[in-house]
Formats: sequence, C-alpha cells, structure tokens
Amino acid sequence: MSYRAMPKVELHLHLEGGAPPAFIRGLAKEKNIDISGIFDEQGGYLYRDFEHFLQVYEAACTTLTGPEEFRRLTLAVLEESAAHGVVYSETFVSPDFCGGGDVGAWREYLAAMVEAADEAERTMGITLKGIVTCIRHMGPEQAKTAAKCAAETKGDFIVGYGMAGAEMVGRPGDFAYSFDMAREAGLRITCHAGEWGGPDMVADTIRDLAPERIGHGINAIKDLALVDQIAEQGIVLEVCPGSNVFLNAVPSWEAHPIAKLRDRGVKVTVSTDDPPFFHTTMTDEFDMLARTFGWEEEVLSELNQTALDAAFCDDKTKEAVA
Ligand code: ADE
Ligand code: ZN
Repeated sequence: MSYRAMPKVELHLHLEGGAPPAFIRGLAKEKNIDISGIFDEQGGYLYRDFEHFLQVYEAACTTLTGPEEFRRLTLAVLEESAAHGVVYSETFVSPDFCGGGDVGAWREYLAAMVEAADEAERTMGITLKGIVTCIRHMGPEQAKTAAKCAAETKGDFIVGYGMAGAEMVGRPGDFAYSFDMAREAGLRITCHAGEWGGPDMVADTIRDLAPERIGHGINAIKDLALVDQIAEQGIVLEVCPGSNVFLNAVPSWEAHPIAKLRDRGVKVTVSTDDPPFFHTTMTDEFDMLARTFGWEEEVLSELNQTALDAAFCDDKTKEAVA
C-alpha cells in the first residue's frame, strides 16, 4: 500500500534542499550561471559524499539571486510536498542565502516566501512555517547575524531558530550566544546533531543549546543512557531515514535506528531533509517505514501526531491543520 494520500506533518525540510533540479537548471539557464557540473546525466543532483553534497547545495543556491527566486522556489517545493499529502511543513531558511545577513534584505526575501506560502495554503491546503537556520561551517559570527535576522522577524511565519551545515566543524557551545539570543526573542529551538557526530555531540548540543527538537539525532543510539535522557526530557527527534541511508550515515533501511529509538520511548518524527537530493518523498519515507519495520497505519499516524504536537506554530494553527 502507498501512503501518498495520508495527511502528513513534516518538521525537517531545507527550503533550498527541496529545489527540484529542473527548477535550478532553469534558473541557471535564465541567468547564464554555469553549474552544469552539479547535475548527472539524468538531470539529478550529482555529488560524492556529504561534504561534496554541501558544496553542490551551495552551488545550486547561487541561482537563487533574489526574493522572486525564493517565491518561485517556495511554490515549487510546496507543490511537491502537497502532492505527497503534507498538510503542514516547517522549513529551514537561511539569511546566508537570502541577502547575506542584511536584515532589510532578509525581510524582502521573507515577504516573498510568505506570499508563496499564502498562495499554497489557499490553493493546495498546505501550511508552511519557517525556522531561521545558521550554517555551522560558516562559523559563530555568521550564526549571530542569522540569529539577529531571526529575532527581528519572529512572528506568524518565523517560529524557530536552528543550525544545519557541517556538523564536525566546531562544538555546539561555540554557537550558544546565537541560540540564547534567538530563545530570548521567543523563538523555539532545534539543532542538527548526531547525524555525523557521535553521542557526545548530541549530549553537548542538549547541554549547551537546550533544543526542544534535534535534527536527526540518530547516533544517540550508541549511548543508551543518552537515549533514556532524550526520552525523559521529551526531546523530539526529526528523523530523516531516506537522507541517512542515501548519504551513508547508516548502511541500510534495516540498520536504521528509528525503530529502536521509538521502542525505548523517544518521540520520533519523520521528514525528508532535502528530498530531490536524496531521491525521496514523504510518501517514500512512510512506505519504506511500513515495509522495513512492519509499521501499520496506527504507528504512522502516531508519528504524524508526534510531529504536530512538536510543531513550533501556535495552537490555533495546529487545530486548523489537524
Ligand atoms: N543542510 C542541508 N541538508 C543537511 C543535512 N542533511 N545535514 C546538515 N546540513 C544540511
Ligand atoms: Zn537537515
């Protein structure tokens, strides 16, 4: 059975990472930007490993030159999500790719994304919220600039602050200042950790950045005391199994720890991360979970409910979506 039609909640989706490759190729052609090296013969994204993925991702972003490109991107991404039954989505957006950290420019990019989100809500029945994301390998100073953009634009659309990028660069505590600034502004907190880093990285992230949710977090499974701590503290994991398998963070779907984490009481949710980069969709994620772990509709609905409970939007929005 395919779970395409099941209403879904997605908490971990990078907006630029959702860009269909044909959309990016089209923009590159319009603007005469030569990024032909980032595509394979079938027109998909081409990269060797995670580090190279980040480079290809940033090369694709060079075609997103202004607010209008982000308006079109947002619509293209939401069309794809809605086609897979997603009714509520939270997307990571980075001032670093939207005006380079200038607050005035950032506001213009945001207005364009909100225009697209409003249109998608009207025409496709999908609700979108944004989480401002700093890019770890760009360093703590850039992260502060991102946090300032986040704090200045907290509101109906921008609901959270987080961190993505190369996890093995620096330590979580290096970014505490920007996370504190975002938290003090009333933003909800999530952070990528334990996708590439070990349990120590997850533990330090919890201690130094105090996130309510963790992006991936899968390597916590290597320390069961830490898994129990995550369960007891009610920290929610934004698990992206298809991404983890495609990037070789885990060797196979069968070896993925999501079922073990859930069995031990951790609140797990399911997302696609960067769907066209990993040749996945929310339908594929749910179908593969059903096939790999024998999870039936009851469990899959529970994952969606956990995601809705952990969403950073207000209760009125949750009621409208449920
Ligand atoms: N940015 C986009 N996708 C990412 C991932 N899977 N991990 C870290 N940073 C990212
Ligand atoms: Zn991610």
